[in-house]
Amino acid sequence: MVEHYPVLLKQVVDLGLELDRFSDLLDLTAGYGGHSQALIDRFHPKSVTLLDQDAYAITKLRQKFATNQAVDIVQQNFRYYPFEQRQFDFILADLGVSSPQLDRAERGFSYMDPSQKLDMRMNQGQVKTAVTLLSELDQVELASILRQYGELRFAGSIAKDIVDYRQNQPIVTVGDLNQATSKYWQAKPKVQGLIYQALRIAVNDELAALDQLLVHAIEALRPGGVMAIISFHSLEDRKVKQKFREYSEAKLDIIGRELAPAKARLLTKRPIMPSKNEIVNNPRARSAKLRAIIKTKNLPS
Ligand SMILES: C[S@@+](CC[C@H](N)C(=O)[O-])C[C@H]1O[C@@H](n2cnc3c(N)ncnc32)[C@H](O)[C@@H]1O
Repeated sequence: MVEHYPVLLKQVVDLGLELDRFSDLLDLTAGYGGHSQALIDRFHPKSVTLLDQDAYAITKLRQKFATNQAVDIVQQNFRYYPFEQRQFDFILADLGVSSPQLDRAERGFSYMDPSQKLDMRMNQGQVKTAVTLLSELDQVELASILRQYGELRFAGSIAKDIVDYRQNQPIVTVGDLNQATSKYWQAKPKVQGLIYQALRIAVNDELAALDQLLVHAIEALRPGGVMAIISFHSLEDRKVKQKFREYSEAKLDIIGRELAPAKARLLTKRPIMPSKNEIVNNPRARSAKLRAIIKTKNLPS
C-alpha cells in the first residue's frame, strides 16, 4: 500500500537533467522516500542522505532502503543540519506534513476524529504539543498564531472563544477544539482547516525551520547544483520565492556596478504546479508549488 503519493514527481526528477553530474543527493524531508527513490532510479547518485524528523517515517525509510548501501538515513530537523560540512548536487525539500501524519488520527493533525488528543508534533520526541499551546498561550499569543499562520480574519475573536472555553474545561482533544471554535467553521468550513494549519505550524515552528534552510542550504549546494523546494501554502511559498529571487540577483553598488555575482539562477521563473490530472488522483497535491534554482558555477571564493 502506498502511504504517501509524492507530488510533482516527474517535474522534480526532470530538474535532475539540469546537472552535469549527479553524485550526491540530499533529501531534507524524505518522508516515505517517493521522490528520492525516483531520483535514485533515474540518476544513480553515489551517495544519498535522507533526513526526516518523524520517527515513523524514519522506520519506513530504513525498511525501504535497507539494501541500498549508498543511502544514509538521519532522524533530524533540517534546521539543525550541518550544511557547511558537505556538498551535494541536488537538494530537495518537500515541505509540510505527509499523508500518514494526517491520516493516522492518533497523530492529532486532523480535525476529523473528535476523540484524538491534539498532538500535531512531527517529531514525537518534542515536548510541546498543540495541547501545550492551547493551554499555555494567552489570548493575544493565540490570536497572533491564528492570524499569522492561518491568515484568519477573525483571529482575535477565535482566540477569545478558545480562552473562554478553557475557563470551563481544558482543550485536550480534537473534539474540544472543534467545539470551542464551532461558530466560525460552521459558518465557513474552510476555517477549520486553517485553524488546524495555524496550530500545526506553531507546534512545529515550521516557518523558522524554513528560514534556516533558505539561509544555509545554499552552502551545501555544489556549484552547478540544483535546489528544489515544494511548498503547500502561501506563507512558505512567499519565503522561498523571495530568497530564491535574492540568490538570483547580483549585488550592485549604488551606481549599478557589480559587487558580487548572483549566487544562483532561477530554474522556475513561475512556480511549477500540479496538473488537473494529478490533483484528481491526489487532491493533497492541489496547493503544491515547486520552485528551483541552480547554483552559479564559478563563484569567487
Ligand atoms: C510532504 S512529506 C515528504 C514526502 C516525501 N517527499 C516522499 O516522497 O515521501 C514532508 C515530510 O517532511 C518532514 N518534515 C517537515 N518538516 C521537517 C523538518 N523541519 N525537518 C525534518 N523533516 C521535516 C515531515 O515529517 C514529513 O515526513
